[in-house]
Amino acid sequence: MSTSSQTTNSKLHRILLTGAAGGLGKVLRERLRPFAEILRLSDIAAIAPSEGAHEEVVSCDLSDKAAVHGLVEGCDAIVHLGGVSVERPFEEILEANIKGVFNVYEAARRHGVKRVVFASSNHVIGFHKQSERLDASAQRRPDGYYGLSKSFGEDVAQFYFDRYGIETVSIRIGSSFPEPLNRRMMSTWLSYRDLTSLIEKSIFTPGVKHTIVYGMSANRDVWWDNSAAAHLGFVPQDTSEVFRDKVEAQPPVAPTDPNAIYQGGAFTAQGPFGDQ
Ligand SMILES: NC(=O)c1ccc[n+]([C@@H]2O[C@H](COP(=O)([O-])OP(=O)(O)OC[C@H]3O[C@@H](n4cnc5c(N)ncnc54)[C@H](O)[C@@H]3O)[C@@H](O)[C@H]2O)c1
Repeated sequence: MSTSSQTTNSKLHRILLTGAAGGLGKVLRERLRPFAEILRLSDIAAIAPSEGAHEEVVSCDLSDKAAVHGLVEGCDAIVHLGGVSVERPFEEILEANIKGVFNVYEAARRHGVKRVVFASSNHVIGFHKQSERLDASAQRRPDGYYGLSKSFGEDVAQFYFDRYGIETVSIRIGSSFPEPLNRRMMSTWLSYRDLTSLIEKSIFTPGVKHTIVYGMSANRDVWWDNSAAAHLGFVPQDTSEVFRDKVEAQPPVAPTDPNAIYQGGAFTAQGPFGDQ
């Protein structure tokens, strides 16, 4: 792949976007268009049909190894968003996220893909208190099976770099929605514009090895320090401040509520699932 230029005019031949039917996938379908001649869109769920020669739509279950190998063949980079994105019983997480991320990297190795952007999550470090400030080297404290699967995915990314030279940017996405929905998201919010910019940097910056970056906008009260990912040159343009009045009009959150204590918020109090 051609990663020699950092300009916005950089264009790969084909980028694979997994999770293309999901909330962020739908947003990125349009926004990733300038970065590749062809965007291969994939999901287990239905995706709106291809809108022209610049798009390919491929249905695929990420837990199906042979299908993932076919999916990845011919791609120059992978933006891996597919998987279960909330806390669920382990067996569901195992198939979509754990087998899924392994299948994606194995396929990348087999088919010579050298760059992956992995949608990791703040739930990798969710049991840290909101009073703490973390950088990429902070101890991981996953807040559930979902967070554990993302932590595994980061380890897979590191392994495939160390062993095979496949480079990854793992983006620990905070909360990427049109606007912050609650007080916690005032710290974790990542606008779609900033997400797109971060993915662009993650695709085109040369020599990223395995970089971990927190996906957040330029919010006022942040918990995360991205100095270890400065080489990406990511400069967020948006801030949750513009929504402060609206969010603070909501009823206050009790100090004992996990949403007020932990970086992972309510995820820290989900489950157990295995007692039925
Ligand atoms: N939106 C956020 O704020 C946020 C925060 C942290 C991390 N993330 C991560 O970013 C990614 C995208 O998030 P989202 O909000 O769009 O989630 P989403 O749930 O809307 O989309 C995930 C997509 O993955 C697909 N999927 C699930 N299992 C699959 C399987 N076995 N095979 C193929 N596809 C499968 C789903 O059908 C869905 O369309 C996810 O990996 C999520 O964990 C998102």
